Amino acid sequence: MSIIADLILAGGKVVSPDAVIEASVAIKDGKILAVGAADAMPPARETVDVSGMHVLPGAIDVHVHFRDPGYPQKEDFASGTAAAAFGGVTTVFDMPNTIPTVGTAEALAAKHKMASEKAHVDYGLYAVLGEDTIENVPALIEGGVIGFKLYMGNTFGKIASPSTGAMLEAFEVVAPSGKRISLHAETNSIMERRETRLRQAGRTDPLAHLASRPAVVAIEAVSRAAILAEWTGARIHILHISSADELRPLREAKARGVDITGETCPHYLMLSADDYARFASVIRVNPPVREARNQEPLWAALADGTVDIIATDHAPHSREEKTRNDMFDVDCGFPGVETQMPLMLTAVNAGRMTIMDYVALSAAKPAKIWGLYPRKGVIAPGAEADIAVVDLAREMRLDDAGLQSRAKITPFHGRKVKGLPVHALVRGRFVMRDRTLVEGTRGHGRSVHTIQEMPAPAPRNTDQTMESITRVPARQQESTA
Ligand code: NCD
Ligand code: ZN
Repeated sequence: MSIIADLILAGGKVVSPDAVIEASVAIKDGKILAVGAADAMPPARETVDVSGMHVLPGAIDVHVHFRDPGYPQKEDFASGTAAAAFGGVTTVFDMPNTIPTVGTAEALAAKHKMASEKAHVDYGLYAVLGEDTIENVPALIEGGVIGFKLYMGNTFGKIASPSTGAMLEAFEVVAPSGKRISLHAETNSIMERRETRLRQAGRTDPLAHLASRPAVVAIEAVSRAAILAEWTGARIHILHISSADELRPLREAKARGVDITGETCPHYLMLSADDYARFASVIRVNPPVREARNQEPLWAALADGTVDIIATDHAPHSREEKTRNDMFDVDCGFPGVETQMPLMLTAVNAGRMTIMDYVALSAAKPAKIWGLYPRKGVIAPGAEADIAVVDLAREMRLDDAGLQSRAKITPFHGRKVKGLPVHALVRGRFVMRDRTLVEGTRGHGRSVHTIQEMPAPAPRNTDQTMESITRVPARQQESTA
């Protein structure tokens, strides 16, 4: 009895972190059945010729804001995941700064229901770890989260940053679960003070945003977070690394054995303070796009592994919200989930990194860091068939009007790219084909928390946690009885 595959992608170049091989890929029941020579493939219901193209594991973008529920004028889960599909991104982790914020089991359950009905690609949901949600951690884990998000500083959504004391307790509570805590690592009190002074001085120009958040804001936050992670054994991830200077505390923490990972985004690699003049308030993002001298060290950190992955911080806002006169009134962020792959493939074409490096940074490593590997992040037999078929020779000029995202305004508008995702498959099904969204794929996406398998947790100093020290000793219990 012979097996019949559902689909064969024939004649492409299959990319993994350490090899590019000429091979066909057979898919059955949403999984990779075989990778090998064309004449070794089983019979299939459908064969798609992808010769001349590269076949990549779909990107896993661990940092997107799809705004659902709460801000339909910016994005919703359908438009956001459609944008992902166009960008060759087959799994996204969505942030909790929605209305309501995802800080209770009820809000999480409602978001799971909404996401399962609208998603074109797979997803994980973050829950917020704040001063008032620490007690909800067990219920949130039970309800299915990919990880936690902690805001050390104010950003869009104005989620209050916990005190260092609350942060330590939050780390203690999450550590035994092994879940990773992703940090917006900017220290609030520094930024707040500087913004007040800048406003008083009448500075509301675009560069005032950068002046309010110098790199020391991030250096201090990364260092402090690393100390708390080291003490508690909690796993942490530094979101949107923007400066050369925060690489030192990150490297030092890694050297000490702290389970700390980091991401950077295309805008920190490819934009600089020189672009504020041209893009004005559109470029406002937290942390800010910084002086050009930060770019080379960030590229180098990707190459040497200090920065583990590429994410986008896809942060859509409407044109009106992005183009106000007072820089401090402008909403922070811009869409990125669909431009990341073209931008990074352009860098591959320019010789910045190999395409193998790129799939490590965009797919394999994020899958490993969040316990999804080898179900996701790799094209190998048994893995879920999440695939981006890309044409490295295809050129395009990025154009805001052509974005799938509802937010049609970015500082990458007008930029020439070379290297485009042509098809995207999620668990064997085309969701984007020939640069067109495939009808009927809304609701195909599902939560990946069900397949997440984190390594055994390693909590530390457990005899000194808030929980331990507030437990009434047995002797005292007797005397009060
Ligand atoms: C993000 C948003 O708009 O939700 N904005 C941003 O500038 N990055 C929030 C965030 O990730 O900080
Ligand atoms: Zn952030």
